[in-house]
Amino acid sequence: MKKVRKCVIPVAGMGTRFLPGTKAIPKEMFPIIDKPAIQYIVEEAVNSGIEEILFITSSYKNSVIDHFDKNYELESRLEKNNKLDKLDLVKKISSLATFTYIRQGEPLGSGHAIKLAKNFVGDEPFAVMYGDDVMMENNKPVLQQLIDIYEEKDCNVIGIKEVEKKLVNKYGIIEYENEKTGKIKTIIEKPKIEEAPSNHAGLGRYIVKPEIFNELEVLSRGAGDEYQFTDAMKELMKKQDFYACKIDGKYFDIGNQLGYIKANVEFSLKRDDLKEDVKKYIENELNQLI
Ligand code: UTP
Repeated sequence: MKKVRKCVIPVAGMGTRFLPGTKAIPKEMFPIIDKPAIQYIVEEAVNSGIEEILFITSSYKNSVIDHFDKNYELESRLEKNNKLDKLDLVKKISSLATFTYIRQGEPLGSGHAIKLAKNFVGDEPFAVMYGDDVMMENNKPVLQQLIDIYEEKDCNVIGIKEVEKKLVNKYGIIEYENEKTGKIKTIIEKPKIEEAPSNHAGLGRYIVKPEIFNELEVLSRGAGDEYQFTDAMKELMKKQDFYACKIDGKYFDIGNQLGYIKANVEFSLKRDDLKEDVKKYIENELNQLI
């Protein structure tokens, strides 16, 4: 069985839900406290054994490229000023993995974006991580949890979580062949609430085999008139096994306002340098509301 070494992170979406914030700044570069959301995702990948990362970018996402590149001027200034802890923080970013970039000319959907990764992927299984879905792990990096299932069953894997029934129309929703084993029958992109086969939603973490590109080549437009990655997986499900991985950890969609606020609060409550002050602040604010 081939190891999962490569990861594709599409970051070329328009971020319309977060306008005007995303007019000039990609949502993937929004900081969660003091680190861009996309760096949390890259660190999750690297901590799961990923060595090569391809970003699908667009013309206004150059700050993503800059963030993972070396910044000699900043590094030499930090060194000169003896800010060695900050120098270390900055230097380690560009050496996290090998980074490659391809531009998606037009934001025609996640399926269209991932299709551009064909040559990068070659004939290996690979991970897909959405650039606006940030995970907070409990005991193990979330992508590693998916890779474990791939290695056990030699199958495609979708990271899932239960969502409120009233929100199923915002996600790709799983229909199981066997819920106990996690074997997936099909996936439906943004179903109507009354038609959803479950409340188990795919959440921006996937392990897929290279045959997905045969499906992406012939994909038609789907929900929102976009080429949906979910629709390509749905076709591959007719030919190969897909299993669900129930994510052990928390999930934040930082592409919407509430998800972004939650991510900042929860990650700050995990930080030793911030948690006590943040707790006190929240308690005070809540007391004033009562
Ligand atoms: P989303 O649907 O969450 O992102 O896509 P979006 O299109 O930016 O969102 P809104 O609705 O306009 O606010 C999931 C991931 O796929 C990427 C996005 O950047 C995000 O990381 N994506 C989406 C692309 O790379 N290209 C596309 O054409 C669409």
